[in-house]
Amino acid sequence: MSDQEIISQIVHWKKKRGAVILAHNYQPGEIQDIADFLGDSLALSRQATKIPEQVIIFCGVRFMAESAKILSPGKQILLPRKDAGCPLADTITARQVRQIKEAHPRAAVVCYVNSSVQVKAESDVCCTSSNALQVVEGIEAEEVIFVPDKNLGHYVSRFTKKRMIIWDGFCYVHHRIRAEELQKAKEAHPQAVVLVHPECRPEMVDLADHVLSTDGMLRFAQGSDAEEFIIGTEVGLIYRLRKENPGKKFYTTGSAMVCVNMKKIRLQDVLLSLQQDQHSIFIPEEISRRARGALDGMLRYVKPGG
Ligand code: 13P
Ligand code: SF4
Repeated sequence: MSDQEIISQIVHWKKKRGAVILAHNYQPGEIQDIADFLGDSLALSRQATKIPEQVIIFCGVRFMAESAKILSPGKQILLPRKDAGCPLADTITARQVRQIKEAHPRAAVVCYVNSSVQVKAESDVCCTSSNALQVVEGIEAEEVIFVPDKNLGHYVSRFTKKRMIIWDGFCYVHHRIRAEELQKAKEAHPQAVVLVHPECRPEMVDLADHVLSTDGMLRFAQGSDAEEFIIGTEVGLIYRLRKENPGKKFYTTGSAMVCVNMKKIRLQDVLLSLQQDQHSIFIPEEISRRARGALDGMLRYVKPGG
């Protein structure tokens, strides 16, 4: 089947199943083009709870589909590729979280949403890249265990007086890029505004004009008078930025950041999801209930309409 034939089949099956396609901003262009909703981790979690459709094809990585399932347990959440995981989420286990809690009994645990269901179940509250500081500042405890992303944790620690105990995990995609590369990109495009994701190294953050989530970058680029931007995050976002801002120029920080897991889902996988329920997310009730406490806690920090 050609791509066009697959897309026609997807449209047909979506209608037949009463399904909706949510896709993260890092998805391949062909998937972004067929999505009903695109967004960052926070926007997609919230969208999953708002839409009336009972079948959601979640084009992203596993923790995102799992968050949607936890927040909407009655809906069927399908992840088209079973092996689309997030290596950052795998850098810590629930047992390791319990061990840190034992060592710091007065601390609250804030876990980045890029984490397993088991880790969420051990945490007091979740956060995403767009609300991490708000969440850390908002919880009562003066001591915070922050897992699993050290770069996001250290970024938050720049703005809070709270004592932070930060896990040593990182995202290989964002952590790989070094400040020297960004410095060269800045020299090549001196007029460009530099936007970087908080999963980048602190030295990258130091060189940035703004540190934002992927949706934050989209909003910034749309509202800005600037015409050129250097984008310090996964290349999928650059596809969306170029499509939605045809008059503006977007450059990578040097070598492109590519998340292999985000690029696994193809059109054919989406069609198989619709036709054969490929792959339905299931989370045992007890763990789901405990993880939901942390996700609900995070959503309470979102301003209405924000
Ligand atoms: P956003 O929530 O900013 O889209 O980030 C998700 C992610 O996985 C970053 O690597
Ligand atoms: Fe995980 Fe990094 Fe890929 Fe985001 S970009 S999904 S944090 S591996």
